This record gives sequence, C-alpha cells and structure tokens, in this order.
Amino acid sequence: MIQQAARDYAQRELIQDVLERDEKAIFPEKHIKKLAELGFLGMMVDPEYGGSGMDTIAYVLAMEEISKIDASVGVIMSINNSLICYGLNKFGSEAQKQKYLTRIASGDIIGAFLLSEPEAGSDATHQHTTAEDKGDYYLVNGTKNWISNANSASVYIVIAQTHAKKTHRGINAFIIEKNTPGITLGPHEDKMGMRSSDTHSVMFTDVKIPKENRIGDDGFGFKFAMQVLEAGRIGIASQALGIAGGAMDRAVAYSKERKAFGTELANHQSVAFKLSDMAVKIENARNLCLKAAWLKDNHMSITVASAMAKQYSADIAMEVTTEAVQIHGGYGYVKEYHVERLMREAKLTQIYEGTSEIQKIIISRNVING
Ligand code: CAA
Repeated sequence: MIQQAARDYAQRELIQDVLERDEKAIFPEKHIKKLAELGFLGMMVDPEYGGSGMDTIAYVLAMEEISKIDASVGVIMSINNSLICYGLNKFGSEAQKQKYLTRIASGDIIGAFLLSEPEAGSDATHQHTTAEDKGDYYLVNGTKNWISNANSASVYIVIAQTHAKKTHRGINAFIIEKNTPGITLGPHEDKMGMRSSDTHSVMFTDVKIPKENRIGDDGFGFKFAMQVLEAGRIGIASQALGIAGGAMDRAVAYSKERKAFGTELANHQSVAFKLSDMAVKIENARNLCLKAAWLKDNHMSITVASAMAKQYSADIAMEVTTEAVQIHGGYGYVKEYHVERLMREAKLTQIYEGTSEIQKIIISRNVING
C-alpha cells in the first residue's frame, strides 16, 4: 500500500512540474506539503510524536518511488526522516521530542543536518565550528557548507566542537532554530543536479544556544553523527535505487518504441543486453537496501550493511543512468527525455552522506578487522 501510494503520487503529480523545477531550481514547496499529508516526512516515528509509525522497509519502498520521478524531493524526504527524525527519536530528550520532533515528523516544519564544513567533509572529526560552554548556554561560531534544506528548514541539527583537546570526543550535537540571532545563509548553490533541493552555506556568529538543546551527554556529538549517518545512508541508497529505476523505466519504454534498422531497439541484442545488465544491478541494489532496512528494523548493526547499500546503489545509479542516456542516443542528451537529469542526480549520490570512497573505508575496515 505504501509503495502504491508513493508511486501513484509520484507518477501522477510529482512528474508534472519536475522539468521546470530542475530548470529553474524551484524548491518543491507544494510537494513537501503533500508528502506531509501522506505521512512521508516522519515515516518511522511513533504517532505519539507526530510520525506514521511505519518501518524502514516501508521507507525504502517510498523513497524509491519518489526518487524515480524527482530525487530532489527524495533528498528532502530522506534528510527529514533519517538525519533529523531518526536522530531526535533515538537520542533526543522527552522535552526535545515534544518541542521539535512532533512538528518535524508531522511535516509542519522540516529540518536540516549541519555537519560538513569548508575543511571537514569526509574527514568529519575535524570540526572547526565551535560551541563554547558559557555556563548556562553555548556560544556557537563557524561555517557549515553544502547544507541541504538550509533555507527551507526551520530547525537545524548542528555538529560543533566544544572541547578541542578531546578531538572527536569533545564534539556535541545541538538543536538550533534557524531564526536564532547570529545565523546567516550564503547564496543558493547553483548545482549540477538535485537542483530544486535548496543548498547553502550557513554562518554562525555568536549564536546563543540554550543548554537543554544539546543532544545527549557532553561529547556525544560525533557518535551521534555517525549513528545518524549510517541510518541516513539507507535513505540515500534508496534514493539512488530510485534514480536507477527511473532511468531503467524510461530506457525500456524508449527501446520498445524507437525503431532502428527496421526493428525496435529492444530487438537489438546490444540494447537488450544493456537492459539486462541494468536490471541485475538494480535488483542487487534493491536487495542491499532492503537488507539494511531489515537489519535496522530488527535492531541489528547496520554500519556495514548501510555502507554497502549506499556505495553500491550510488555507483550503479551512475552506471545505469549513463547507459539509459546511451540507449536514448541524441534524445538522451536533451532535457525533455529526463534521463540526462537522472544522470546528473545520480552523481550526487556518490558524493553526499559519505562519498563512495568513505563507504569503502567503512566496508574494508570491517572486512579486514572483522
Ligand atoms: N557508530 C558509532 N560510533 C562510531 C561509528 C558508528 N557507525 N563510526 C565511528 N564511530 C566512533 C568510533 O568508535 C570512534 O570512537 P572512539 O574513538 O571513542 O572509539 C570515533 O567514532 C571515531 O571513529 P574513527 O576512528 O573510525 O574515525 P575516522 O576519523 O577514521 O572517520 C569516518 C570515520 C567513517 C570516515 C567518518 O569520518 C565519516 O563517516 N565521514 C563521512 C562523513 C559524512 O558522511 N559526511 C556527509 C555529510 S552529511 C550530508 O551529506 C547530508 C546531506 O546533505 C544529504
């Protein structure tokens, strides 16, 4: 039912203005409201905190369907569900859940996750943003980069260094309301793909944060970020799976309709074999995503499973979308046929929420050290 609801919505409504949103980098305001109505912005949160009480499998299915049509909407959905709602639900205090989670999970407002910095993307332990303990409040200073939802979010989760000497054990995570004095945004980033998701730098100058807005114990921030990210990677893996699936659907349809050398493209083995390879990759990616989701739902470790799902799905999304453009030939290179957009979107899945190389670090450490 969840999959069907997501598919119906994406293929009937989301599709209508996706090309214009991509072209003009328009934030999908009305679609975010619709996702909230469908219960897709806090899918795995208990209804008592404004969520839909579903499991991670349902989330993977919905993410795939939405991202087949518009991965920009997919990333907004993924960040809200995994990086924000999951983090607050699992690690937030009761007061933080009542004050923030209920509104974010119901989609009344959305959230953004602020970890990356100009000099700390993959190397996440080296945070330069500081959160000085001033006794009854924290004072935050620094700059965060590449922040998805930066302008549209009302609430940020910000990772910052409190005790420099303790390195990553001195990092904290804070809930910060976007309208707090001292917060400014850099210009809208003009991106290659995912163009309707809004991305900015965020600057903090002497931003005062109430003590009760720290998530967890003092020094828990880095482990918080790692655990939230490993869950988040299931969302981005499903997004990549959806992008690949969207390209596959279009490649199949085109190869059955377009003729060359007296027959449909699908009757040429060179095209049919490409479609076969694409289908195997997508099936493998789906299995990895669903396995990671199942492990999470059953409270087992997801560190490696989510890294495998993310790395594999992102890499095959790039391969599958590139082949879909190739099957379309010249038509694939123009916007009207969507596959060039899907290819641009696929690229980002290899970069954000831990690059493919970072996933290989996580996987290989486990392979080598057990
Ligand atoms: N769960 C809990 N704790 C974890 C953990 C996990 N999955 N992974 C690491 N840790 C802990 C370790 O146990 C260690 O703790 P102790 O020292 O207390 O034992 C500590 O964290 C440091 O771990 P490492 O020594 O492994 O740290 P490292 O410097 O080697 O880096 C890394 C680890 C996996 C490479 C990490 O830095 C990383 O994940 N980097 C990528 C960051 C990332 O994903 N950025 C994306 C930004 S968000 C985004 O993109 C959002 C968006 O817009 C869509």
